[in-house]
Amino acid sequence: MPMFISPKLSLDKNENYALMLENLSGYLDRRLPPVSNLANMSAIIACFFADINWAGFYLHKGRKLILGPFQGLPACTEIRLGKGVCGTAALRRETVVVDDVGSFPGHIACDGNSRSEIVVPIMKDGALYGVLDVDSPLLSRFGTAEKTAFEKAVALLVDIL
Ligand code: SME
Repeated sequence: MPMFISPKLSLDKNENYALMLENLSGYLDRRLPPVSNLANMSAIIACFFADINWAGFYLHKGRKLILGPFQGLPACTEIRLGKGVCGTAALRRETVVVDDVGSFPGHIACDGNSRSEIVVPIMKDGALYGVLDVDSPLLSRFGTAEKTAFEKAVALLVDIL
């Protein structure tokens, strides 16, 4: 079993993000089915980020994204490519950070408490695998440090998929 470091949040966000990545390295396992790795990854993100209300995955299937493992309130199960923040990041194949979801045209509100959002595309061998989606009840929750941390987390995932 991997060593799991206490999820008690430190006041230093960079310390929390480093611990998140350390835990991911311990838990992600290429011998497991993807659903097991995605489930643990959503839980680890939820443990190490303050002020987030949803963290999870949408997986690419045809012209849609389909809800995968997550932590948070029940969410919409299908998003068309190009729609919402998730579908936009998936179509562009680049991270999208939204400081105020109210000002993002076509934002899909799954949890009415969400105020800001980050979506990181997951690319495996040049193909879109899905997206990591994280929501916060605070405006402008996701800055450079958070974008870097989530992109590093996705890189660890891609390595074992
Ligand atoms: N807000 C997302 C939909 C997914 S939920 O946030 C979980 C979007 O606009 O794509």
